[in-house]
Amino acid sequence: MDFEKVLNERIELVNEGLRAYLKPRYPEIIYEAMGYSVFAGGKRLRPLLLLGACEAVGGDISEALGFACAIEMIHTYTLIHDDLPAMDNDDFRRGKPTCHKAFSEDIAILAGDGLLNLGFEVMLSEAVKKGGAEYTRAALTIGELCGVKGTIGGQVVDLLSEEKKADEETLLYIHKTKTAALIQAALKAGAIIGGADHKALSSLDEIGYKMGIAFQIKDDILDITSTTEVLGKPVGSDDKNNKSTYVSVFGFDRANEDYLRLSEEVCRLLDDFGEKGAFLRAYAEKLIDRIN
Ligand code: IPE
Ligand code: IPE
Ligand code: MG
Ligand code: MG
Ligand code: MG
Repeated sequence: MDFEKVLNERIELVNEGLRAYLKPRYPEIIYEAMGYSVFAGGKRLRPLLLLGACEAVGGDISEALGFACAIEMIHTYTLIHDDLPAMDNDDFRRGKPTCHKAFSEDIAILAGDGLLNLGFEVMLSEAVKKGGAEYTRAALTIGELCGVKGTIGGQVVDLLSEEKKADEETLLYIHKTKTAALIQAALKAGAIIGGADHKALSSLDEIGYKMGIAFQIKDDILDITSTTEVLGKPVGSDDKNNKSTYVSVFGFDRANEDYLRLSEEVCRLLDDFGEKGAFLRAYAEKLIDRIN
C-alpha cells in the first residue's frame, strides 16, 4: 500500500463529501461561516479514523463516507465554540482568523450549532436511506460521546479548572472526555458500520481511548513547544488562560514519556487487525511524530 497516496485520496473523498453537504443556499452567511471553518484546513483525523476502522473490521469504506463527513462537522463545531471569547478566546484556527473574527460572535455561535445539527442530520439520513440498525447504533455512539458524557462535559471541567491546578484524576477526566471521546466515537462508529464483532469493537474502544489521551497530551506539549505558523493556532493559549494541562499537572518529562508509551500501545493493539488494519496502523504511526 502506498500510504501517503491512500491518505490523500481519502482526505479528498471526505472534502468532496463536505463540499456537497455545505453547498451555500439561503441564508448564505451561515453556510459561508460553516464552510469557512470546515475548509480552513484541518488534518481530517476523525474521518480518517472512522474510515480506517470500518476497513480494519472488513467493511466497505464507501458505506461510511457520510458518517466520516458528519464527524468532521461535529469536530469543527467544537473548534468554533472552543475559540469563542467566552471559552479560550483565540484569534487563529487552521491558519486563518477564527470564525468569530472572520464573521462575528453571533454568527460563529450559530455556525457551530449549524455544523452540529447538520452532522446529526447527515448521520440520521444515512440511517434512514440504508435502513440497517448499525447506522442508527453508530449515530447513537457518536451522540453519546460528543454530548455531556463526552466532549461537552470535558469542556465544562476544562473551564472549571482554569486558574487552579487540577488534580490528576480531574485532568484525566478532561482529556478523556473533551478529546478522547470523539476519537473513540470515530473508531467505534466506523467499526459498527463495518460490521465489527464484540471483540474488535472493544479493542477499538481501547485504542481510541489511548490514542485520544495521547493526542491531547501532544496538543498540550505543542502549545508550549511549537509556533503559531506551524500549528495554525496560537501557541501559549493554555498559559494565557491558566489551563490545567497534562504538562502543567504532570510535568514536561512525564508528558513526553506517557505520550510515547500510549502511542506505542496503540500501534501494538492495531497489529492485531493484520492487513485490513494496515492503513490505520500506518496512520497511528504517522501521528506519533505529528508537528501540528
Ligand atoms: C484540535 O484538534 C482540538 C483538539 C482536540 C486538541 P485537531 O488537532 O484534530 O484539529 P484539526 O482538525 O487538525 O484542525
Ligand atoms: C479543545 O482542547 C478540545 C475541544 C473539544 C475542541 P484545546 O482548547 O486544547 O484545543 P485547541 O488547542 O484550542 O485546538
Ligand atoms: Mg479549550
Ligand atoms: Mg482551545
Ligand atoms: Mg490545546
